[in-house]
Amino acid sequence: MEIIIASTAGFCFGVDRAVNKALDLLNNAEVDKNKVYSLGPIIHNEQVIGLLTSKGLKVIDNIDESVLEGNIIVRAHGASPETYKKIDDKGLSLIDATCPYVKKIHDLVKEKSDDGYTIIIIGNKEHPEVIGINGWSGNNAFVVESQEDINNLPDIDDKICVVAQTTITGDNWVKLNKLLKNRFKNIVKFDTICNATSTRQEEASDIANRVDLMIVIGSKNSSNTNKLYEICRKYCKETFIIEVPGELPPVDIKKIKKIGITAGASTPDWIIKEVVKKMDELNKKDVEFNFADAFEESLITLKSGDVVMGKIIGFNAAEVFVDLGFKSDGIIPIGEYSTDPDFDPEKELKVGEEIKVFVVRVNDVEGTVLLSKRKIDSLKNFEVIDEAYANKTTLSAKVTEITNGGVIAIVKGIKVFVPASQLSNKYIKDLNEFLHKTIRIRIIENNKERRKIIGSGRVILEEEKHKNSSAVWDNIEKGKKISGTVKGFTDFGAFVDIGGVDGLVHLSELSWTRVKHPSDILNIGDTVEVTILDFDKDKKRISLSLKNEDENPWKNIADKYKVGDVIKGKITRLVPFGVFVELEKGVDGLVHISQISNFKIGKPGDLLAIGQDVEAKIVELNLETKKIGLSIKDILPESDDAADETAEKSSENIEVKTEVNAEEIVEIKTEKKKKEKAEAKTEKKTVKKPVKKSLKKEEKETEKKKKAVSKDKTEEIVKDKE
Ligand code: F3S
Repeated sequence: MEIIIASTAGFCFGVDRAVNKALDLLNNAEVDKNKVYSLGPIIHNEQVIGLLTSKGLKVIDNIDESVLEGNIIVRAHGASPETYKKIDDKGLSLIDATCPYVKKIHDLVKEKSDDGYTIIIIGNKEHPEVIGINGWSGNNAFVVESQEDINNLPDIDDKICVVAQTTITGDNWVKLNKLLKNRFKNIVKFDTICNATSTRQEEASDIANRVDLMIVIGSKNSSNTNKLYEICRKYCKETFIIEVPGELPPVDIKKIKKIGITAGASTPDWIIKEVVKKMDELNKKDVEFNFADAFEESLITLKSGDVVMGKIIGFNAAEVFVDLGFKSDGIIPIGEYSTDPDFDPEKELKVGEEIKVFVVRVNDVEGTVLLSKRKIDSLKNFEVIDEAYANKTTLSAKVTEITNGGVIAIVKGIKVFVPASQLSNKYIKDLNEFLHKTIRIRIIENNKERRKIIGSGRVILEEEKHKNSSAVWDNIEKGKKISGTVKGFTDFGAFVDIGGVDGLVHLSELSWTRVKHPSDILNIGDTVEVTILDFDKDKKRISLSLKNEDENPWKNIADKYKVGDVIKGKITRLVPFGVFVELEKGVDGLVHISQISNFKIGKPGDLLAIGQDVEAKIVELNLETKKIGLSIKDILPESDDAADETAEKSSENIEVKTEVNAEEIVEIKTEKKKKEKAEAKTEKKTVKKPVKKSLKKEEKETEKKKKAVSKDKTEEIVKDKE
């Protein structure tokens, strides 16, 4: 004797989920059991409905009944938009147990209907699931179940969208679609038959083909149970549909070699068990075979805490459904699948994918299995954390929260706290700049007992800085060009980070032309190429230059200028000891104050002004020290008149620049002469000496010739010379 029990027999996950939602509500101590309603029977199974009603559930046929307040459950079959509206209008609390697969059909029908398609539903027009689906087309869909229905359809010129009731057979879907195609041209079809249904039907046909007796357990008004019966009957003449053990057919099972058992999607495990137990009793005298044991053995047993492999068979935004090879499919609430707040099931889940899951809870009565993938990942990921902590590995973490004093970052589903001081090696003004960003961290504390994991990005940055800095010092050499980032300014230059080490570019090395402040030509964060001028490894100092030798204006100066040349230039600076004249961009010469005029002046600004064009003679040219000495005085005429003229010219120049009028210039000149004469008198003694010196030779000759020169006469000569 052999017994084959279908692994797909019993609750599908849609029914399982709906029954569980109802039980959760009815077992909730805070819920008033007198006010829990279901819109139609939650499943087509008297026994399960009996269990639920015994706990307080009231089954109502429509929302118009005298339901004024409380909780209302929409069953797995789903409902129309009008029903949802009525629930909302009445202010009832909705528990939507619509099977996610059915919900998908609602959305599809609405979308296509809004798009101008005519909807055709292949299914039973009386079935609540079909009535609900039709509601999402505005109740404008055509429902067909047979060739006759299709023949009776009117001519449809619109685009047509065909969907299926989830529990119809695959054969029926193919057959009716062929007929529709013969009648209409513009058709798009969506095979919305539930996978659980088709798998169950395939397995049932396979078993029925191999056995002498086939038992289908389920309610006679359950659509999918009836379909199973039809399928099995095709392959096994001795097929019986029973709802409870007492309905087992009066056959001598001892004479049967193989018995097959399957059950509809609304049949709970405990009824299947009872049926098998009854068969066992009938077979009592046969000591060699025990049906009940065979049934138990045919099931994969699960208990809380088990870790098992499963296959994803469906999902929606809230749950993932997993085939475990158990009587019922397992459910993973989406929060138990992933901790990633941006987790997108559509993008990241694949039907058919094998995954390892943790069994959180098994409900033996209803056979539901609550699963978690997160727990598995978490166990595995704690190992990743332990390993990363031990090996000081750098991890990628996504910042999901800003907390007091730091951020929470997720590493492989595990929360890691990163204090603000450990986020960076720089001051962080606003932690929000890290929110939703992926950062690099290293685990610096891993306290398993307290579940305290602390990460740091700073240690990584510091370490990198140190490493880079060592590399800089190892390879540093004068004259080397290197790329850097402008870090900061001072009045005397700019600091540039050359890869973990800061060097200083002095003001004079910022440009070939004069720069007053680094910010005149640079911005913080600029990338620049600098030349290493000098360095001190002990003092950790590096001098840098931003000047490019190719642009050195002094390069061809020797070819262009020589001592004695008269140049034209513009005054760029006045200093107490003279003026700087720009010969060309980046090349200034100095006219010392003594070289400005034939007569003595108090300060350069008395005669000259910034921006004034002047002519001067090159009196010194030192390429090594990059110094050019100039003289204006040398190209002025020697005589008083000439000096006056030159002075006048200079004054004229001043007049141009400073807009001083002619009378004022005469006044200035007169004042200057008076001042000079007064100074000459008071400084007679000081003047005398150099004059004496310069006239030494002449005086000596005079002394030789006349042997004596009177004091008055000498003064006369001095005056003449002046
Ligand atoms: Fe849903 Fe399929 Fe069951 S549509 S209710 S899972 S048979």
